[in-house]
Amino acid sequence: MFETLKQLPVDAILGIMALYREDQDSSKIDLSVGVYQDENGNTPIFESVRRGEQQVLAAQQTKSYVSIAGNAGFNAALERLLFGDEHPALRDGRVSTVQTPGGSGGLCVAAHLLLRAQSDARIWLSDPSWPNHMPLLQLAGLKLEQYFYYDYQNHCIGFDRMLAEFEKLDRGKIVLLHGCCHNPSGADLSREQWLELTELFERRGIVPFIDFAYLGMGQGIDEDAFGVRLMAERLPEVVIVTSCSKNFGLYRERVGAVSIVSKDAQAATLALNNASNIARGIYSMPPDHGAAIVAEILCDDELRALWIAELSEMRDRLNDLRYLLVNKLLERNAPYDFSFIAQEHGMFSFLGIGKEQVIRLREEFHIYMVESSRINVAGVNQANADTVADAIVAVL
Ligand code: LMR
Repeated sequence: MFETLKQLPVDAILGIMALYREDQDSSKIDLSVGVYQDENGNTPIFESVRRGEQQVLAAQQTKSYVSIAGNAGFNAALERLLFGDEHPALRDGRVSTVQTPGGSGGLCVAAHLLLRAQSDARIWLSDPSWPNHMPLLQLAGLKLEQYFYYDYQNHCIGFDRMLAEFEKLDRGKIVLLHGCCHNPSGADLSREQWLELTELFERRGIVPFIDFAYLGMGQGIDEDAFGVRLMAERLPEVVIVTSCSKNFGLYRERVGAVSIVSKDAQAATLALNNASNIARGIYSMPPDHGAAIVAEILCDDELRALWIAELSEMRDRLNDLRYLLVNKLLERNAPYDFSFIAQEHGMFSFLGIGKEQVIRLREEFHIYMVESSRINVAGVNQANADTVADAIVAVL
């Protein structure tokens, strides 16, 4: 029967990563997949993770199952990280968290939960959004729509147009927002914009579904969590999906979570019960190893301080690299103004060049990026910044 299956196109991001791996050129540069790289192009293990892992292994007595909702210590510590210790939603018992296999597992559990609550659930995604949002949420059964987000001409959020589109949504409609470090554009909502959106969502009864995969990588933990905390305080229902892939560098360990903010503690119990039942039906239980390491780090003052220092260093470097690239392009009198890249946050920005130019960069200069011209800023370093800037100017 499998001969009836159709060959599918390669993944927009992982396909480029595969092409990069196949390229034998020693000077190749990878600006594709969202994986942090240091000055030498390596993705190192955080020292806090290394130590946390040793502590976990030293204390571990069994490999028996943990639970459907995952590691309770992880879930509690993650909630405090997301919301802060004093958040009213936590105090009122309105939050339920289920640990999931990565952020993608969290998106999947959340999508099924929304469908259980609302069988014809429709979700609005930002245009553009992470390319995997669409297939993942569609596969779970959600109906997808898009809203205007990034203004490619002016390299910023088209906020007024976005608001106008949200004004037309009915009560109970679901909107996917990026908590910070918008993937793929790097263009984040300002505090004022979060406040305006929250007011609009409250007035129109819109439910935010926040993908929060880059906490701490934009401007700082509290700064990045501003929108999530605000919406969780002001709105009756919010879904938040977290990932520890990037901010703990735990990519392959698949550590994520879905946190559901419900209107009261009773509804939160129901949400937990149903999210756990969904998890059981899909993968039964999440992997424990990475979550146990995160719990160890967040609950140990010394390790937590070390992790915060490492995360800050990574964030500062990402922000510095943005300036480095912009300045290199400026020095070369690039025909376009790329200064917007320095104003954006997180791992990604669009260069704003065409697909043909992206292909030329790959085929002639061995520089790899997603075809939308999304670059992973962390792939730039002091040693390759001149080469990257020369090549960009050459194809313009
Ligand atoms: C990315 O956007 O590059 C990352 O989130 C990795 C992935 O799985 O797509």
